[in-house]
Amino acid sequence: MEFKITVLGGDGIGPDVVAESIKVLDAVGKKYGHKFNFEKALLGGVAIEATGQALPEQTLRQCLASDAVLLGAVGDPKYDSPNAPVKPESGLLAIRQGLGLFANIRPVKMFSKLVNSTALKPEIVKDVDMVFVRELTGSVYFATPKKRFNDERGRGAVDTMQYHEDEIERILRVGFELARKRSKKLTSIDKANVLKSSQLWREIAEEVKKDYPDVTLNHVLVDAASMYLISRPSTFDVLVTENMFGDILTDEASMLAGSMGMLPSASLAGIPSDNTRCLGLYEPCHGSAPDITGLGIANPIATILSAAMMLRYSLALPKEADAIEKAVNAAIADGLVTKDIAQVGQKYLATGQMGSAVADKI
Ligand code: IPM
Ligand code: MG
Repeated sequence: MEFKITVLGGDGIGPDVVAESIKVLDAVGKKYGHKFNFEKALLGGVAIEATGQALPEQTLRQCLASDAVLLGAVGDPKYDSPNAPVKPESGLLAIRQGLGLFANIRPVKMFSKLVNSTALKPEIVKDVDMVFVRELTGSVYFATPKKRFNDERGRGAVDTMQYHEDEIERILRVGFELARKRSKKLTSIDKANVLKSSQLWREIAEEVKKDYPDVTLNHVLVDAASMYLISRPSTFDVLVTENMFGDILTDEASMLAGSMGMLPSASLAGIPSDNTRCLGLYEPCHGSAPDITGLGIANPIATILSAAMMLRYSLALPKEADAIEKAVNAAIADGLVTKDIAQVGQKYLATGQMGSAVADKI
């Protein structure tokens, strides 16, 4: 089969890690007889540089006309000043919203060979295998008012944490569906002891639960959840939460897998399925990593595993997705690591060598 994939390398280490995904996808294409046509487009800092906009019109159009979108990372310290008129990150938010990608799926899994590569004790992390379902197009990231203002007390600023029931219901359904396919345990994370939006979230979770009698639902407050993620992470399976809680908790959870460089993600406009094709955006959970840009040491595994998710959820190629995941497993089982997951004194591979090692295992 033939597919059109829009590639948004973005900023920092983005283009480097995406190049390794393409290497692996080309190996998959060769083995299974598919043609992936990669077409580049601009997003983030590089787009601001070229067009003045973080998400140029042309990029959005090209994404809408493709089978899937593969993204590296956006973000450039050049635009860190609070007064920068456009920020690279605004392009990322705009593309998520523009493509209607409300469901962000972030799996966190421990590879057994890496149990000694995390900051936690091996017995705590050894069985970690969970999936976050993060709401991606609502809440405090998008709701208005969202602005700076001046009044008699001086400077002020407001962001709005707001949800409507349809937004909550559809993301919870994604959580329940995923839970149904896994261990039938869903944890919903909120701050219902304080926030109105969380109280509504919890109420709707209980209503949706009625359609999923086979799934156990439990509610955990976000502050407690952040503690349990460290103290007993393997008790979690599928977790569903609102946009900002999901952002924060998934960075925390990445440490359970050894590194941010291990965490893939899929952003979808519906319930993930192995058998139907739908547009999605696939990106590592890590950022543009300006501190290591150009050093050739970035870990490409998160982006390679994101490509596997792309094959599964956007291109309906589950067998090929499995092949990538197995290849990553095999490379890690051989003791191949990048700097971020290497133990003290262990030899590590450069970004391109790691990508080639995975491609060779396909
Ligand atoms: C993520 C990132 C983004 C987010 C940033 C870069 C806007 O942290 O994908 O988790 O906050 O969603
Ligand atoms: Mg984040």
